[in-house]
Amino acid sequence: MVSFIGITSGSGGMGKSSSACNIALALSAMGKKVLLIECEFGIRSHDAILGVRPETFSSFSDYCNNNADLCDIITKPEKSKIPHFITGGIKSPEGDITKALISLKAELSSEYDFIVSDVSPLNERVFEAFKIACDTFLVLTDDSFISLRNSSFVVNSIKETSKAKIFGVLNKVVIDAKEGSPYAEDIADEMGASLIGIIPFDEHFSYSIENGLPIYKYNTYSGRAYENISKRLVGQAVPDYETGNGGFFNKNKFVLKYSI
Ligand SMILES: Nc1ncnc2c1ncn2[C@@H]1O[C@H](COP(=O)(O)OP(=O)(O)O)[C@@H](O)[C@H]1O
Ligand SMILES: [Mg+2]
Repeated sequence: MVSFIGITSGSGGMGKSSSACNIALALSAMGKKVLLIECEFGIRSHDAILGVRPETFSSFSDYCNNNADLCDIITKPEKSKIPHFITGGIKSPEGDITKALISLKAELSSEYDFIVSDVSPLNERVFEAFKIACDTFLVLTDDSFISLRNSSFVVNSIKETSKAKIFGVLNKVVIDAKEGSPYAEDIADEMGASLIGIIPFDEHFSYSIENGLPIYKYNTYSGRAYENISKRLVGQAVPDYETGNGGFFNKNKFVLKYSI
């Protein structure tokens, strides 16, 4: 059975697209069959983050508008361990997105282990469809007041109408030697969801797109954070790399709680 993971956030620029691509890559590297769908429209970034060109002209929007079949929209890169992917499209779909997601999920259920997609809560029609189709949501935030507050709004809005499991991901964490950093437990409390991962701020994010080599391929704390999130998503009990021996957050006593 395919598991559909929606990656969202309360504020823009929190790392939805980067995380969708890198989690899809990390799951593929574990031998899982993964389909990545770009569900932010107008801007295309997944191909650049993956470092792979799309082989199709048609997009997820075209599929929702009944202008393309699944075989017309999925790029299947030949390189092993790169997820199959669908681009978003220039315009947000006008067709029935819920119906499209449900039929896509049913049709691809035996072919893939995971469907991973970024989705903005600001696109209400798309977000409502995701609340119905997704099995799990990851809600990204940084530790700023506004982002945390907005991420808790998003968590609550998912809880209202969706049966999906919800996990928080704390991204772009900078350890301030003087001030220290907030405890992961406090972040989880404020968001209303347990954390499944913590990703440090990492300057490789800008190099990675320029070099066409995804962040996951760099041997950095953020690359490993994506690996750990992916392992937790398949139910593996990953030692708290972020907090354990030699972990990035060790000296700041981050406590990472997760359950799947
Ligand atoms: N952990 C991180 N460290 C440094 N830069 C990051 C990190 N996560 C994301 N970024 C950068 O932040 C910007 C926004 O990320 P993106 O994935 O496009 O967010 P969204 O899809 O939520 O708008 C991009 O330039 C990306 O490279
Ligand atoms: Mg994006």
